[in-house]
Order: sequence, then C-alpha cells, then structure tokens
Amino acid sequence: MIASAPGKVIVFGEHSVVYGKHAVVSAIDLRCYAKAEKRSGFRIISQFGETGLDFDGHHSYISHAIRRFSEIRKIEGALIEVRSSVPPASGLGSSASVTVAVLGALNAEFDTDLSQDEIFELARNVELDVQGIGSGTDPFVVTFGGSWVIPEKKRFETRLNFDVVDTKQKSVTSEMVRRVRELKERYPDIVNPVLDAMDSIALKGAEALEKNDAERVSELFRMNQSLLRAIGVSTPLIDRIIAGIEEEGYAAKITGAGGGGCIITTGRGDFKIGLSGEGVRVEDFEDWRESDN
Ligand code: PMV
Repeated sequence: MIASAPGKVIVFGEHSVVYGKHAVVSAIDLRCYAKAEKRSGFRIISQFGETGLDFDGHHSYISHAIRRFSEIRKIEGALIEVRSSVPPASGLGSSASVTVAVLGALNAEFDTDLSQDEIFELARNVELDVQGIGSGTDPFVVTFGGSWVIPEKKRFETRLNFDVVDTKQKSVTSEMVRRVRELKERYPDIVNPVLDAMDSIALKGAEALEKNDAERVSELFRMNQSLLRAIGVSTPLIDRIIAGIEEEGYAAKITGAGGGGCIITTGRGDFKIGLSGEGVRVEDFEDWRESDN
C-alpha cells in the first residue's frame, strides 16, 4: 500500500519559538510518497540507494520508523520504496515527511488501523531516536496537515501561496540555535526585545494569513527578516538573494534555521508552495505511477 505525507514550512517564528514565543507553521503541497509491501526481511529503496535496515545512514528515519511500527505490530519484513518531492536537508521537513509517509504505508499494508494521533506519537519518537532532541513540531504538522499557530496548536486556514528559493547552502539547525543562544547570553537586553518583536510578528502574521492579506504578510516578512538578520542567522548570500527579490517588489525571509537552507518569498522563487497541505493519507496506485514522472 502507498501513503503520502506533506513537507512543512515555518512561515513566522523560527528561533523565537525556541524561547517559548509563537510560531506559524504550515504543511505544504510538496509530498513524500512511500510504498510498503509485505515480504520476508526488510529492504529500503530511495533516491539515496537500496539498503536493508540502516539506522545510521541515509535511511535512518525510515529504519527507525519500521522499528517503532514493529513494536506495535510484529512484522517479518517489508519492502519500502520512497519517492519525495520535498528537497532533503533544506528545512522543509523532509525527515518528518518521509517518517510519516512510511508509517502511513505500513499502517495501511498491515491493516493496523492506527489513528493520526498514534502515527504522530510514533513519528515523534522516531525524531527523538534519530536526533536525540526535537520540538516535535515537524512530525505534528506533517501528520495532521494544515496551518497552525504554536505552541497553542491552533489551526487556521489560508488561501495564500508562496515561492521558495533553495540557497543550496547547508543549514545546520543545532549550530544556528546555539549561535542565537550565545548572542542572547551576551546581549540579553538587545536580543530579548528582538525575540519579543518576532513573537508579535508571528501573531500578526497568523491573522494576516487567515485574512488572506498579502500586503500585510509582505510587510511582516520584511520586518521578520530584518530581525533574523539582527540575531545573526542570515548570510551574505541570503541577503543578496533577498535584495534581488525586493528590488522586484516582492518580500522574502529565511524559513527555518537560516545560515543557508531556504527562503520563503511572495514571488520570484525557484518553486511554488501552497500552504495547508493535507496530512498523512493513503494513496492509490494511480498516484504512485504519477509520482514516478
Ligand atoms: O530549519 P528547521 O526546519 O530545522 O527549523 C528550525 C527552527 C528553529 O526555530 C530554528 C529551531 C526549532 O527547533 O524550532
């Protein structure tokens, strides 16, 4: 059986969310598809190659997902095949997306009848298995889909769409979080008000998204990016890309940890994303063939 799960984007609130402030996160319409087939022994096939259970390599999330699933339903083996349109390691939730798609496919193939809540719980544990630490936000958004204000987990709808630019520079979340923490320790009276301002931007941003108010979102993108730059998570390349986008009248900001990774913009990006992608779902074989192209 085949299941799929969306990627995600942080629209507002990266870094400040680490200190308990609000963030706005959305599932996007780029998806990861996973096929699970009963067989004896485990085989995993993806763009990274073909392996057995591989807890430390490129298939770590998939392997841990299989192990966590097996704790609930004993299985003798499965062929897992994954195809994803979520670019890996770019802050768009590719790890959570593959984890949840694989859990969804195993759930369907072995008639386990797990609820979305149970799939989320397993995916949350897989995140901890592989990363040792994690807020659980990615597995949450990717399992349930839609747009959310966190930490309240308040759902909202928006019709606005954005573009994404992938800087192709590697973004190492732990490193960027550490840098912000150090800056905050050295300059608390400067950094704390910046984090508070980011909190207000996230709350106003959620309102603007819900009202489909693109003008207001643009304004808030520009302010948020200036603040992200102030806390040191932008780079000269990101600044140059955003300057080019702004010269053409659009607005843009880092999405995710920064230092590289992706930029979310109101126009002129590499590819389009719709917000409020649907959460984990079972697909039929037509969809699998389509995802082949
Ligand atoms: O780039 P990502 O998707 O790993 O997002 C990181 C978001 C941070 O706020 C910087 C860290 C976090 O755990 O919330």
